[in-house]
Amino acid sequence: MAITFFELLNPIINKEIAFISSQLEISIDEVYQLILDEAERNQVEWYSDRVPNLNYEDPACRLAYLYIVAAANASTFQYVLESDKDLLNYVLGIAKERHDLKICAFGAGPGTELMGMAKFFETQKLGVSVSVDFQLLDKVKEWASSWYGIREQVNESFKNLYGTNRSKWPMIPSGNLLPCDVTDLEQLPYLGSVWNQDIYVLNFLLSEIFNDNPRLRSFLSQVTKFAPTGARFVFIERRGPMWEQRIKNIATESGLTLSPFMESRCNRLVGEEPSKLGSIYNAIQEIRKPRLSWNVVYSVAVKQ
Ligand SMILES: C[S@@+](CC[C@H](N)C(=O)[O-])C[C@H]1O[C@@H](n2cnc3c(N)ncnc32)[C@H](O)[C@@H]1O
Repeated sequence: MAITFFELLNPIINKEIAFISSQLEISIDEVYQLILDEAERNQVEWYSDRVPNLNYEDPACRLAYLYIVAAANASTFQYVLESDKDLLNYVLGIAKERHDLKICAFGAGPGTELMGMAKFFETQKLGVSVSVDFQLLDKVKEWASSWYGIREQVNESFKNLYGTNRSKWPMIPSGNLLPCDVTDLEQLPYLGSVWNQDIYVLNFLLSEIFNDNPRLRSFLSQVTKFAPTGARFVFIERRGPMWEQRIKNIATESGLTLSPFMESRCNRLVGEEPSKLGSIYNAIQEIRKPRLSWNVVYSVAVKQ
């Protein structure tokens, strides 16, 4: 038995659906319809070829993201951790030496990177428990409910799999979601907790900011300036020269050394069964299925 993304998401989604149903005084089927409407809207906005106008403040929109995208994006992050040899050695070196790891994700949404990291450490079977502290920065503060839900569910899953003694778990998660627009330099003074991280992640953030935003570059330049030497910056994005150029511009302005861009495609998430999402899957899968594939470009930069 091991952690799977869809099983992890099942109780989080169910709890949020029950909450919306009672708060709005509507049936569960009506909540499913709201989720389907938002899923449709997200799809149109993501492929609109302009800054997407997304409703993440709306719980149905966030649920659509959890149902459709979260597992695929968590899987992409896990894949990059496992496949980029420099990143893998760096993470395993820190984990074995210090038994802790600090990670900051920009535009982290529900905390998909935490899911990816949990499955990564479980797969590595290091024989030690690694404390992983996450600082998630996102301009949508409402993601907090899913982030704490995911963190709680990772804890719950490890408790069920490895017992109550946390020293037997592959990973112990902690951390915070910090509401922050990463194009707003005025927020930098409040972010003392993000200066000293081992890893910084931008997983599908650039395509939502969309424009080659100079304020994002300035923000990341400041983060890079205060980051420890050797810190890794992980960029994962949609494939395409436009996104590669955005990443290059950030790296150039921040003085980061990028690894060559790697393209990667997955046609079917390994070891994942979407029916484990439970009731929501049974109710809406004929209309909309969770994403089981990805097609990305990634690069890992090093702070010199
Ligand atoms: C496509 S989601 C990616 C979430 C997560 N990293 C993943 O891969 O599943 C993009 C996230 O970026 C956030 N975001 C968009 N613009 C932002 C900004 N200017 N500052 C901070 N977060 C932002 C959105 O709220 C959303 O949670």
